[in-house]
Amino acid sequence: TAAEKDGYDWFMRKEIFEQPGAVAATLLDRLNEQGRIKLDESTISPGDLREINKVIIIACGTANYAGLVAKYAIEHWTRISCEVELASEFRYRDPIVDSRTLVVAISQSGETMDTLMAIRHAREQGARVLAICNTNGSTIPRESDAVIYTHAGPEIGVASTKGFLTQVVACYLLGLYLAQERGTLFGDEIANVLEDLRATPDAIAKVLNDLGAVMKLASDLVDVPSVLFLGRHAGYPVALEGALKLKELAYIHAEGFAAGELKHGPIALIEQDLPVFVVVPPKGRDQLHDKVISNVQEIRARGARTIVLAEEGDTEVIGYADTLITLPKVSTLLQPLVATVPLQVFACELATLKGHDVDQPRNLAKSVTVE
Ligand code: G6P
Repeated sequence: TAAEKDGYDWFMRKEIFEQPGAVAATLLDRLNEQGRIKLDESTISPGDLREINKVIIIACGTANYAGLVAKYAIEHWTRISCEVELASEFRYRDPIVDSRTLVVAISQSGETMDTLMAIRHAREQGARVLAICNTNGSTIPRESDAVIYTHAGPEIGVASTKGFLTQVVACYLLGLYLAQERGTLFGDEIANVLEDLRATPDAIAKVLNDLGAVMKLASDLVDVPSVLFLGRHAGYPVALEGALKLKELAYIHAEGFAAGELKHGPIALIEQDLPVFVVVPPKGRDQLHDKVISNVQEIRARGARTIVLAEEGDTEVIGYADTLITLPKVSTLLQPLVATVPLQVFACELATLKGHDVDQPRNLAKSVTVE
């Protein structure tokens, strides 16, 4: 009913605007009396935790993209190798899993059958399973050895939004927890990341207060047949998620690519007026920022319509952006938490203008309980 939607036209739009609160809630109360990060539930002993030599993240759809974002942080902080795999692929390829493997299942609903079957398979092979889930008491956390709950509140829109951001946050908490238990980060390094994470709700709110360019873009592009998304490093899964949202809601062809792969194929798709979103990494010690700006130049030279997401104050990119969407300054690893938001809004708005049912797109279900 309209009342439940709080005045918004769609649950999805309401949920997009709930994201600052959902992220803040997911970060709340994560430390024990000693000031150390704790899990919500765990029967994994400290000794077993130290033995872990591989993390495999398993999920479907948007949750899988949250896992792809998390891989960058988990490997960086813990120095444990981290694979991310679609749940539906995992158990049919005879994966290498043993008691030293930590399988992380990410699921908003906690009931996705592909993910559930994958963790059952992992446990049969002796793996420890940790669930990241938004639904208390659902099947996936019940069948896991440890749990971190996201506190997004109920998500009604079929296309996941606050579910995604809170999954990324929960994965980061897991990465910091593993780094803490295994001693790969110092206490003050962990405290610094936590402080940065606690600043993200305000940064997300800032994005939500500045949607003019995105809304205009949606009305300009309402009839385009295809849209591409490019990103690099943690911005690569953001590109995948931006494309997925557009497919799910607007039913138009959309693809996400790793910006560095452009020259290995996708550049052949670039033609006059093709809209291409590019997520530009913050300027850092690595060269990624400059490399992605070169990609923007390359596609613009071929006539593409460039829609550039870049942090405020990034003057280098302005000359090559047909549309500039400014993001608040955050670290590279936290950029997905702000960069995803305009892409969600874009898909929601474009689908609304097309007259689609945003909350219940055709052929999709919120929770897929068949394999
Ligand atoms: C369905 C939904 C997607 C969701 C995926 C995983 O396909 O339509 O939006 O990302 O399931 O759902 P889960 O509840 O496991 O996160």
